[in-house]
Amino acid sequence: MSMFPELRPRRLRRTANLRRMVRETTLSTDHLISAMFVRHGQGVERPIASMPGHAQLSVDMAVREARQLAELNIPAVILFGIPDEKDATGTENYNPEGIVPQAIRAIKEAVPELVVISDMCCCEYTTHGHCGIINTPDAPCYNPRLPEGYLLNDETLDILRQASVVHAEAGADIIAPSGMIDGMVEAIRYALDEEGFTDTIIMSYAAKFSSGFYGPFRDAAESPPSFGDRSEYQMDPPNLREALREVEMDVDEGADIVMVKPALPYLDIIRQVRENFDLPIAAYQVSGEFSMIKAAAAQGWIDEQRVALESLYAIRRAGADMIITYFAKEIARWLKS
Ligand code: PBG
Repeated sequence: MSMFPELRPRRLRRTANLRRMVRETTLSTDHLISAMFVRHGQGVERPIASMPGHAQLSVDMAVREARQLAELNIPAVILFGIPDEKDATGTENYNPEGIVPQAIRAIKEAVPELVVISDMCCCEYTTHGHCGIINTPDAPCYNPRLPEGYLLNDETLDILRQASVVHAEAGADIIAPSGMIDGMVEAIRYALDEEGFTDTIIMSYAAKFSSGFYGPFRDAAESPPSFGDRSEYQMDPPNLREALREVEMDVDEGADIVMVKPALPYLDIIRQVRENFDLPIAAYQVSGEFSMIKAAAAQGWIDEQRVALESLYAIRRAGADMIITYFAKEIARWLKS
């Protein structure tokens, strides 16, 4: 076995160019997906306090932002809608004139090459803030065998089918179901195919954990649950084998891309998914991951650029092909310089 002093790993770390030559993981704008929150109005740019640099945008402002993303060579953006009207079943989600379909149409018209992803979930559209239809005695689909307040799985699939077709019709390239509803990928695939949207891609939030790291997002999207939490349908953070089973199911149901979310606290999941599946993997560096870096940097406790890049390299190294990140624009600028 060759050892010190024959081997001196430090030789290869001596200069920036040497380090470039032996770098094992790449990070470029190719790997970035940015995120946007869209709401009704004109000229609206409502800053999100917990997510510095991000704002809720009206469609005209979202188009401006989309142009900037394209100029920075970022290939894709994911959209979240904040509707004016919410109700028990989130009907605004499948209104063809709803905020997300409007934004999709405007962005695809202005910047056709930008890949537009629609986050497909009910929580932004429901008054109770849960990711589907809730079992209540006054609901038409009330099931007395299941507890009150329970998220009705199969009834929710009908909403996801309708809304996915509406968003595809508006021009979404990718539908990204994020509710952890069992059977959501199959339901959406059939619905899209039936309507002729055979090339609309499904990026499934396959292993999405019930995470405290979503805190700032729920401010941004105005979608915190009004009772209970999402632990009855999102995954329990300690589970790895179950995550692989979730991914396997979504692959079998026809997912084109599978996602792990959050990212940095779940690198082991990303790695295991990479080793077990051939499909492209997306990782979501969620709002809490972003805000923690921003907050610590604002205090002068860490170097923002360095920590953000290091985090994204770690997520890539674990095996993610693409990363949804609120740092996308900044990273694109840093990588340029
Ligand atoms: C909708 C959805 C959430 C996020 C993405 N899609 C919120 C949630 O599940 O509570 C979180 C994203 C983030 O924190 O950045 N279901």
